Amino acid sequence: MIVCVCNRVSDREIARHARAGMSFDEIQFELGVATQCGHCETCARDVVAQCCGSHPVAALHRETAVQLDASITRNRAWPNSPSPAA
Ligand code: FES
Repeated sequence: MIVCVCNRVSDREIARHARAGMSFDEIQFELGVATQCGHCETCARDVVAQCCGSHPVAALHRETAVQLDASITRNRAWPNSPSPAA
């Protein structure tokens, strides 16, 4: 089903991007959805919300990325590497 008539964006396209972990703002930038008349914004946001709620895997990946980032800042990403102070 076409959600955004102005930019010819379907609910499938929006859902595919949302399942890949993209936020509404990122999808809007990527696909152009809700960037002209704006009548589709509520429906597009609903599609994103439904996908985010039913696919916690994307949220898990974000959490893992945050954990990896924290380990890098503590210089523990590579346990056998020499510390910078040594
Ligand atoms: S229908 Fe999406 S911006 Fe107009």
